[in-house]
Amino acid sequence: MKQPNRIKSWEITSESNFINRRAFLASAGLAAAGATLLPATGNAAVRELETVPGPYSTDEEPNSWEDVTTYNNFYEFGTGKEDPYRYAQDFVTEPWTVRIEGECEKPGDYAFEDLVAPHALEDRVYRHRCVEAWSMVVPWVGIPLGDLLKRFEPNSDAKYVRFETLYDPRRMPGQRRAVLDWPYVEGLTIEEAMHPLTLMTVGVYGKSLPNQNGAPLRLVIPWKYGFKGIKSIVKIEFTKRQPRNSWNVSAPHEYGFYANVNPEVDHPRWSQARERRIGAGLFAEKQPTLMFNGYAEEVASLYSGLDLRKNY
Ligand code: MTE
Repeated sequence: MKQPNRIKSWEITSESNFINRRAFLASAGLAAAGATLLPATGNAAVRELETVPGPYSTDEEPNSWEDVTTYNNFYEFGTGKEDPYRYAQDFVTEPWTVRIEGECEKPGDYAFEDLVAPHALEDRVYRHRCVEAWSMVVPWVGIPLGDLLKRFEPNSDAKYVRFETLYDPRRMPGQRRAVLDWPYVEGLTIEEAMHPLTLMTVGVYGKSLPNQNGAPLRLVIPWKYGFKGIKSIVKIEFTKRQPRNSWNVSAPHEYGFYANVNPEVDHPRWSQARERRIGAGLFAEKQPTLMFNGYAEEVASLYSGLDLRKNY
């Protein structure tokens, strides 16, 4: 069941979130009109969502709206951290269709609204660890991916799920350069995809996703490095065989299929033992990285018997 929007704890407590709070207060009078424009760091299509509290949220202080929406990786809009914020502002995500394919009973083309409408949108504050050894805490909004996938009735040959980002170099200028083998693709085992922590994400901070964060829908798998969180998804395919994923294709000895956060397995070019929390200040100490990004209790059993040094 959906509930009306409430003021969330992070909107009251976090001083660094003043931009978001100001936007929220400014929007309160407009909420009845439906759509709300945000100042400064949003884009025109960002609007308030009706959400319910979800499970698994961390108590850690979320990063500011500004951190979350201006420090991004989204190579389709450039390789600099601020490029997605700068160059994705005019990216149009309505209408948006997602193609469902492969080992399931209900393949087809589904409109974004039809995918989302039957589900309650949950607020979930997750730790977010990039393979580049920085991290944030992000208040996402989404649907458990498993609840969405079950609607397509995957069959017993569906061992993996493959995801694909939009390929359209006219709308995504970064795709005009061969920095990756476009389109961006990612994959999960069916068990990972069905795990209740895995979130098909449609929003952040109680609002729909800004373009730079992967509008209108992207994955968030909080125990994995951030690159598994594929953005602006247009295709979901149930497969028998393990799909290749973009970063593994690009640099196989540096990025694997699993990409579980693991402080004991260094990247060939840097240590993964510690991480820099974005927004903590220039002189802040790096903090230790936790096994499975702190979600070991929930997910370690998925990997029993697997050598996580080889299967990085
Ligand atoms: N998805 C696509 N399509 N293109 C990308 O370049 N970058 C990944 C991931 N998803 C990326 C992507 C990486 S490296 C990270 S760390 C996260 O998105 C960053 O998500 P954020 O910008 O919302 O923090």
